[in-house]
Amino acid sequence: MTVKTNNDKHEAETTTGTPDMDSQGRDYKKQNTGNSDPNAIGVDIGTSKIVFAQKKNGQIKYDSHRNAFISVEYSSFTEKILKQNQIRYHQFDNSLVVYGDGAEVFADMLNTEARRPMRKGLLNADEAHSIDIIKKIIDDLVDSAKSPQAKLIFSVPDAPKDSPSDIIYHEALLKRHLEQKGFTTNSINEGLAVVFSELEDENFTGLGISAGGGMCNVCLAYLSVPLVSFSINKGGDYLDDAAASVTGMVNTRVRSFKENGFNLGTPPRDKVEDALQVYHDDLITSLVRTLKTSIHSASSTLNVDRPIPIVLSGGTVKVKGFKDRFEKLMKEENFPLEFGKIRIAKDPLTATAKGALIAAMN
Ligand SMILES: Nc1ncnc2c1ncn2[C@@H]1O[C@H](COP(=O)(O)OP(=O)(O)OP(=O)(O)O)[C@@H](O)[C@H]1O
Ligand SMILES: [Mg+2]
Repeated sequence: MTVKTNNDKHEAETTTGTPDMDSQGRDYKKQNTGNSDPNAIGVDIGTSKIVFAQKKNGQIKYDSHRNAFISVEYSSFTEKILKQNQIRYHQFDNSLVVYGDGAEVFADMLNTEARRPMRKGLLNADEAHSIDIIKKIIDDLVDSAKSPQAKLIFSVPDAPKDSPSDIIYHEALLKRHLEQKGFTTNSINEGLAVVFSELEDENFTGLGISAGGGMCNVCLAYLSVPLVSFSINKGGDYLDDAAASVTGMVNTRVRSFKENGFNLGTPPRDKVEDALQVYHDDLITSLVRTLKTSIHSASSTLNVDRPIPIVLSGGTVKVKGFKDRFEKLMKEENFPLEFGKIRIAKDPLTATAKGALIAAMN
C-alpha cells in the first residue's frame, strides 16, 4: 500500500470539506462543487456536548448544547421560574427535567451537579430517561428534514472493549429518532470524522484522535478508508472524577480548574495540579499504549510509505501542554510505521461535527 500526496490546493474551510477520492481513487471533488448543501447535516453526539454542523452560504455554522440535565420535583412555582428564565425543560411524570446548556445554569442556581444522559461515549444505562433527554437536545438543535434527500450523519464512538454490544443499542436508538425526523441517516466513527475534518491536505490519510469527555477515539485512515480504530474509556470525566477523589474537591470544581489555565507543562504547585498531572499522564499513557498494541496487531496489513500525520482533537487536548506530553510519550514507544507531524485540530470542539458534515455531503 502506498500513500498518495495531495497536490490539490487546500480550499478554505468555507468552501471545502470533501474527501478527494474513495478507496478506488475516484475523484469526489467533481461531484461537490456547490458552496452549500442545505440537505447535509453533521451531528457530534458526545458525552459532554452535542454539536450540530451545517453549511450555509459557503460557511460551516455550528451550534451546540451541553449533553446534561437536572431533574427536580414538579411544582408550578419552579415551572414558572424556568419559563421566566427561558430555561428549556420537559416534564417527565412528577419531575421537571432541565436539559442542555440550561442544566448547568440551573445546577449552579441549586448548588448541585448536572447529570449526564451519556456515560463513556454511550447512552447512560443508569439514567432512566437518557434517550428521551438526548432526543430533546437533538430536537432543539436540529429541525425536521426539509426534503426526503436530507442526509444527516452522526458520530458514534468505537465499540468499547469491555461492552462491545452496547454500541449497537446506542446507535440504533439515535438512528431511529433521526429517521423519524425525516433524515436519511448514518453514523460515522468519531476518529474517522476527525480525519475527514482535519486531513484534507493529506488526502484523508493519517491518524485522527478525539479525546473527549467520556472517552478517547482513534482512527488510522488511508485515503479516507479506516484501517485501524479503537477507543479507550478514559476522557475528561475520568480526569475530573479521579482528581476529585484524591483531593476531596468536587469534580465540577476540578473541571473548572482544569479548563481555566491549568498547564501540564509546568511543575505542579499544589495537590490538585499534582493529581491532574498524574491522571493526564495516565490517560495519555493508556492512549499511546493501546495505539501501539492496535497498530502492532494490524501491522501485517499496513504498508504505508511515508510518515503518518497525527491530529489531536476533542476538548481534552485543549489543556496546555497536552500535545507536548503526547509527543514525548509517542517518542518513547516503537511503532512498526513512522508517524509524522503531530498537530492540534483547528477547533478541537467542533472537528467531529465538521467531519460528520463532510461525510453527509458525500
Ligand atoms: N480548555 C480546556 N482545557 C482542558 N479541558 C477542556 C477544555 N475545554 C474542554 N475541556 C474538556 O473536554 C471535555 C469535553 O470534550 P468534548 O466536547 O470533545 O467531549 P465529547 O465529544 O462531548 O465527549 P466524547 O467524545 O468523549 O463522548 C471535558 O472533559 C472538558 O472538561
Ligand atoms: Mg467527542
